[in-house]
Amino acid sequence: MTPRSVAIIDFGSQTTQLIARRCRELKVYSQIYPCHISAKSLENHAAIILSGGPASVNSDFSPSLPEGLLELGKPILGICYGLQALSKALGGQVSACSHREFGSASIQLNTTSKLFDSLDSQLEVWMSHGDQVTRLPEGFTCLASTPTCPHAAVVHESKLIYGVQFHPEVTHTKLGTQIISNFLFKIAQLEPSYQLADFLETEIARIKQEVGDAQVIMALSGGVDSSVTAKLIQDAIGEQLVSIYVNHGLHRLGEIEEISSLKLNIVDAQNRFFENLIGVTDPEQKRKIIGRTFIEVFEEEAQKYPNAKFLGQGTLYPDVIESQSAFGGPSDIIKSHHNVGGLPERMNLKLLEPLRTLFKDEVRELGKLLGLPEKWVQRQPFPGPGLAIRILGEVRPERCKLLAQADLIVRQEISGNYWQYFAVLLPVKSVGVMGDARSYGETICVRCIESEDGMSADWAYLPREVLAKISNRIMNEVSGITRVVYDISSKPPSTIEWE
Ligand code: XMP
Repeated sequence: MTPRSVAIIDFGSQTTQLIARRCRELKVYSQIYPCHISAKSLENHAAIILSGGPASVNSDFSPSLPEGLLELGKPILGICYGLQALSKALGGQVSACSHREFGSASIQLNTTSKLFDSLDSQLEVWMSHGDQVTRLPEGFTCLASTPTCPHAAVVHESKLIYGVQFHPEVTHTKLGTQIISNFLFKIAQLEPSYQLADFLETEIARIKQEVGDAQVIMALSGGVDSSVTAKLIQDAIGEQLVSIYVNHGLHRLGEIEEISSLKLNIVDAQNRFFENLIGVTDPEQKRKIIGRTFIEVFEEEAQKYPNAKFLGQGTLYPDVIESQSAFGGPSDIIKSHHNVGGLPERMNLKLLEPLRTLFKDEVRELGKLLGLPEKWVQRQPFPGPGLAIRILGEVRPERCKLLAQADLIVRQEISGNYWQYFAVLLPVKSVGVMGDARSYGETICVRCIESEDGMSADWAYLPREVLAKISNRIMNEVSGITRVVYDISSKPPSTIEWE
């Protein structure tokens, strides 16, 4: 079969995943590989993109091209470090810039090149580099330059090897997607043929075959990933899937009702969670207790299904890539996110992770293809430990109820394309005056943020009327609240959640 996909070699750039996403947005299947992969594993791809990276090709131990890559004869696009690694491997020269170049730059293009088809001769691009190519390898010509970067884009025409010093994958590069599209369709002759519907069909057949007549168990959290996973597995094997929903009592109002269109085994463990949380105020302690209790309850329930041989999980592509990143270990743990990782080793089950090649936006689209309601697949992210990490101080059932009511009002009143919006219950009491009498009650903080991926976020400029309505409704409808405040902190330095 003619190869229909593109391989992306990761040299450790922050934007490698973005390259993969851009290709998929253009309907070409893309797969990321660490840079020490053997060229043989890349044979089934039609083209190769080399990512940027933090190293300098001139330093000791810097990563080089996968061995045998150039002998594959595939079209190649090197981006930033990728271009420099190519140049070095082919006998060119890479040197440190006199000034590191970060940010926007205007480049002059040779628009007769296929790479720049449909573009004007001047383009705003995003640069982020400390080294650059100072002498081209033999057979290469220059396609673009800036006053400080003489080889901003290069080509070896007959070998179909291209390189750009800037980053076409980031949105700051105007028309960057056009450049990637030109590489995929005009240079590598790929077709925009990747469709989630095909993925769905093959995945259902694969699950059927792999599972046979065994049972699959999985824990549903109510989030998009686990719900889509469950629906997909359910469509493949029907009653053989056992979905367990551990009701920890820390969910949002209406949550259980919303997911009950999936066949669920609901385990009521609310008292157990609340008892284990008595007196606990430290956020990490809360997470650990909730994670541990969750696993205990789930394991006890799972023992009722001795025929279960598989554990379904909603692992996504970014999680897979992060655990095989090109360089070093995981970054600093700011918060230990709770999930059900660790379960399969203890339970001796095989993992079934049908979403492990998909990005979040693809998962949402797949959810729609599977017939899940639009409103549901577009749900905002919700942390595994639930409302517990939005209740500062001790988590008690009555405080949880108060927060859940306020949170529902926030969700009802805010509409728009925000990443997350929710209420937080602060550990601060303040004085109010209600019906001419003094009151002394709790404080709700409203948080609404805009973000691309949750890694960084800006607080949203909500219209005054919306804020006023939220404040008014919370004060009137949630008894015990005497003050409502709005959080105007961005991430960094704050985090999205308060704990
Ligand atoms: P932070 O607060 O770290 O949140 O800026 C980034 C994103 O992660 C979510 N989040 C969690 N998700 N378990 C989860 O499953 C957790 O413990 C957890 N803490 C934060 C948060 O809602 C945001 O989308």
